Amino acid sequence: MRIPVIAGNWKMYKDVREAVELANDIKREVYNVDNVEIVVCPPFVDLGDVCEMLDESNILVGAQNCYWEKEGAFTGEVSIPMLKSIGCKYVVIGHSERRQFFGETDETVNKKVAACINGGLIPIMCVGEVLAEREAGKTLDVVKKQVSGGLKGFNETFISTLIIAYEPVWAIGTGRTATPLQAQEVHSMIRDLLSKLYSKAKADSIRILYGGSVKPDNIVDLMKQGDIDGALIGGASLKSASFVDIIRSTSGLRSGKK
Ligand code: 13P
Repeated sequence: MRIPVIAGNWKMYKDVREAVELANDIKREVYNVDNVEIVVCPPFVDLGDVCEMLDESNILVGAQNCYWEKEGAFTGEVSIPMLKSIGCKYVVIGHSERRQFFGETDETVNKKVAACINGGLIPIMCVGEVLAEREAGKTLDVVKKQVSGGLKGFNETFISTLIIAYEPVWAIGTGRTATPLQAQEVHSMIRDLLSKLYSKAKADSIRILYGGSVKPDNIVDLMKQGDIDGALIGGASLKSASFVDIIRSTSGLRSGKK
């Protein structure tokens, strides 16, 4: 059984005070949810305080990026041991905003995913097509290439903790969600690909999240799809009310998806 993951990507929002307040608000509301893996990913500078606030709670903390070297002269970068030392458990890797604005490629994603797993953090590896690629009918090819490129050289045991997030770029922050069927088509293709690259058992065990304008009013229909195992949420994760709503709906739906 795949436990659903609801992860909030706070992007470059919330200073330390705001972040701790938001974390506290969410914590108060979801303390009794035990069938959803809840994750928040604040900006780097907030991570220490948010980890402290959420210590011993049912909410886990992730970073939005990392570097693959353990330490060294890499100005501006943050390493996996540093993230671990403050209590982070996850790292979002290869988000489309990082691919688009900061030169992230399948190769750098591959190195970062490897470093996360080697260092004991759970990578949430993001993939997704831009609008022009969707309109040209290239979605499945683009996503296939990103998934295989990101996982190049890894064996089945190595990727045990991996989480994949499918985020169509045209649906991010636009209010234009992929329909549940559009999302399911890509999720099921990713699972088929994992099955070919590894095994059916492995493919069946990996969580594939959907991201792109997920809101309280569309989460249920998305989560009803057989291959959607949770969501990576931007805008709606910045307010405790909407994020908590999404968590509660997911928790309520949880009825033995295989
Ligand atoms: P929105 O939920 O704001 O569309 O953002 C999605 C996203 O990029 C999460 O990583």
